[in-house]
Amino acid sequence: MRLDLDEVTAAYGSTVVLRDISLSVPEGQVVALLGANGAGKTSLLKIVSGLLRPRRGRVLIDGEELSTVPSDARARLGVCHITEGRSIFPHLTVGDNIRLFAPKRASPGAVEGALDRFPALRPCLPRPAGSLSGGQQQMLALVRAYLSEAPLVLFDEISMGLAPVVVDEIFEFLAGLRRAGRSLLVVEQYIPKALALADVVYILAKGRLVYAGEPAELSGSAEIMDHYFNAAESRRPREGISR
Ligand SMILES: Nc1ncnc2c1ncn2[C@@H]1O[C@H](COP(=O)(O)OP(=O)(O)OP(=O)(O)O)[C@@H](O)[C@H]1O
Ligand SMILES: [Mg+2]
Repeated sequence: MRLDLDEVTAAYGSTVVLRDISLSVPEGQVVALLGANGAGKTSLLKIVSGLLRPRRGRVLIDGEELSTVPSDARARLGVCHITEGRSIFPHLTVGDNIRLFAPKRASPGAVEGALDRFPALRPCLPRPAGSLSGGQQQMLALVRAYLSEAPLVLFDEISMGLAPVVVDEIFEFLAGLRRAGRSLLVVEQYIPKALALADVVYILAKGRLVYAGEPAELSGSAEIMDHYFNAAESRRPREGISR
């Protein structure tokens, strides 16, 4: 599945948070979206999944305009959005969460296959999902992305706050989705890992795209990264630092 944003502008009330964004996720590719806090990354993913409507511009999936199609219909079309802060049902058991994620047509082996990706979840199946650790909850959210079979998956900082070994597992999982031919749009704070995975990188600063290119260009250039991230950060107050 291919995604294109064409000159999208978005706002909350009178505050414009994305300006003239044109971006593409080609079929079967991984696109990393980087940028400082508040740059507009989450808002951009919401535009794609339909949680936020663009003020101007178009959202196209496989060339068809979806700008006014609601988020539940987009999900049925194959857009899966794993949001910041775990997309799970905390009061249901882990097993029930997984059964809910599985499409009706899923084969009986699908759930087993998903659990093979994250064996740490197996002993937790009877527990309420809300009682899992942060890392386990995130794995559960990723099982949803896996089971949905959605051809386009949006990930919003899924490795935030997790132990390095879990972060490695998550990146391995993303690489597996890519090998399966799914298109991924990934917002990540682990920049080197994101660059190693991605085919294309975009950098957002204050609601505008300031860079689009190949990850290799950026990996070799701490200067470029510093420039964009510091430019975006420079006017923001630094918490906890008095000057
Ligand atoms: N529901 C909302 N109402 C009003 N303003 C919002 C809302 N959500 C986000 N914003 C503002 O929009 C801008 C972009 O926010 P967004 O969450 O898209 O950034 P982000 O790049 O995902 O940041 P972070 O890295 O901190 O998650 C910020 O200035 C934020 O304060
Ligand atoms: Mg965000």
